[in-house]
Amino acid sequence: MSLSLSAEQPAVPDDADDGVWLECIECGETFPPFEDVRYTCDECDGLLEVRYADLPTFDDFEGEGVWRYADALPLSEGVTTQEGATPLYEVPRLEESVGVEALRIKHEGMNPTGSFKDRGMTVGVAVAKELGVDRLACASTGNTSAALAAYGSRGGMETLVLLPAGKVAAGKIAQASLHGARILEVDGNFDACLDIVQELAAGGEAYLLNSLNPFRLEGQKTIGLEILEGFLADYDAVPDRIVLPVGNAGNTSALYKAFRELVQAGELAESEVPKLTGVQAEGAAPMVEAIENDADEVRRWEEVETRATAIRIGNPVNAPKALPGIRETGGTAIAVSDEEITDAQRDLAGEGIGVEPASAASVAGLRKLRAEGIVDDDERVACLTTGHLLKDPDAAAAAGNDPEPVPADTAGVLEHLRS
Ligand code: F0G
Repeated sequence: MSLSLSAEQPAVPDDADDGVWLECIECGETFPPFEDVRYTCDECDGLLEVRYADLPTFDDFEGEGVWRYADALPLSEGVTTQEGATPLYEVPRLEESVGVEALRIKHEGMNPTGSFKDRGMTVGVAVAKELGVDRLACASTGNTSAALAAYGSRGGMETLVLLPAGKVAAGKIAQASLHGARILEVDGNFDACLDIVQELAAGGEAYLLNSLNPFRLEGQKTIGLEILEGFLADYDAVPDRIVLPVGNAGNTSALYKAFRELVQAGELAESEVPKLTGVQAEGAAPMVEAIENDADEVRRWEEVETRATAIRIGNPVNAPKALPGIRETGGTAIAVSDEEITDAQRDLAGEGIGVEPASAASVAGLRKLRAEGIVDDDERVACLTTGHLLKDPDAAAAAGNDPEPVPADTAGVLEHLRS
């Protein structure tokens, strides 16, 4: 199986361009990377992965941000607004209350547009330029559309985004709007938007930059590389476990690929690879269902609902890459309620870290797994928080304190404070 941790480095095919090619994860067919637009395998429609003739080691990385890892990426430079190099926060009170050896928060909300999507777009939009396309498109629960609009405009390209009407948080629509995307509000959920945009892309209307696009996931690998470098610097060891929210399972796939490549490069022992642990909202948990049932495929949920609108997804398109990632690393997947998500959002806020609801799912999931004894008290854990608090101001206001009306004089304010 090509997605096994112990897979050998593949032979370099004639299709390789400067040591880079695309390979189908199902049938192994290879394709040149930058000659034609292609998202899945021509032969069997399987998902594609970018492969490299030479895999880098930690010593090869230099500089800061996503492009520090250029040797692990398909291009040497991108369309950039200085994405990556996000904080790996210490959270002593949360660490104590969850009860693990070490807990760190990798806050991807600190990227330029406020989510991890920027890491994928800096690579994906650069590849779009390489391919010579002029119109970009995505379906989105919000963050992808914000990042695509920003990076598309930076690259001088037109952008088209399809959003589920009434289900996208305010900050995200504002971003897509101001960065100049054409916003199509679809009377359906995210999965319906993705079906449509895939058909538009197949018809040549636009270049697809959802996480189905293998180049985007290359950029997102750098989350994993940064976490590992951060832990090596602070603990002289990589984390035992990485807990992350799951929607389309793009990050789960990308982190697993980053670790597989480090194993192939001889940088990481198979036994050291962090356990990838996915968290979904109870109302949108098809990946959790597949892991619990030990199923080979994920069943598409037609009806999905959760306050964490970013992960309100019933058909995780990257499941064929992500299921092996969770299983091969000895990880797991768990569903959490909206209340547990909001509690975790408050816990993080209490450490000064502002995240949107979907992000807090990682911490909610860790707490639950710890309570169930699945996570041990001697583990060192990184939780990924994927988006900034300001993405969803309404959720933040609903979870936080209400403003208190007071009169416009000091005596009145003092009286209010003392009453
Ligand atoms: N967290 C946030 C804040 C997200 O926006 C998303 C996905 C995820 C987690 C899930 O990540 O798909 O890699 O498993 N948002 C996409 C979007 C779907 O359109 O913005 P995944």
